[in-house]
Amino acid sequence: MTVAIYPGSFDPVTYGHLDVIGRAAGVFERVVVGVLANPRKAPLLSTAERLTVLRTAIDETLPAAAPRIDVVAFDGLTVDFARASGGHFIVRGLRAVSDFESEMQMAHTNRKLAAEVDTVFFMTALEHAYLSSTLVKEIALLGGDVSAMIPPAARGHVGTHRTVG
Ligand code: PNS
Repeated sequence: MTVAIYPGSFDPVTYGHLDVIGRAAGVFERVVVGVLANPRKAPLLSTAERLTVLRTAIDETLPAAAPRIDVVAFDGLTVDFARASGGHFIVRGLRAVSDFESEMQMAHTNRKLAAEVDTVFFMTALEHAYLSSTLVKEIALLGGDVSAMIPPAARGHVGTHRTVG
């Protein structure tokens, strides 16, 4: 079985992340979404919230693929998480050229740490290419409308319940 892990902070999950998860599920038989429990920056959402929001958003947005997508928390090295999950691939999304430099550095570093694990990149759909969790949080905290950026399950967790219209 081809297993891929998709590690990230998901603070909160955006439609861009969900797009990448859907694309990965189209290629791999099982996708394990890994929520980094202690990212470098203190997260706005707790680990439990990020897990619940992701699970709900995946079930609602990608119902056909959802049974093949797991959502779990992890800590420590991504390559150790990949090995523990039986995954030989790390999935990451690329929105723009600006993502490439840091992603290339991570991919090479991870390969140095675990030669048997490859990183696979998916281009985020153009309509989601502008999205970032950091900007979503800022907009929501300042009272802006983020309903086109994050799934309904995430909205109550970023300081707004507002919707378009
Ligand atoms: O959603 P993010 O914040 O862009 O995800 C970054 C993440 C979780 C993929 C990265 O920080 C990571 O892999 N952290 C785990 C620690 C680790 O393995 N570091 C070495 C990676 S080169």
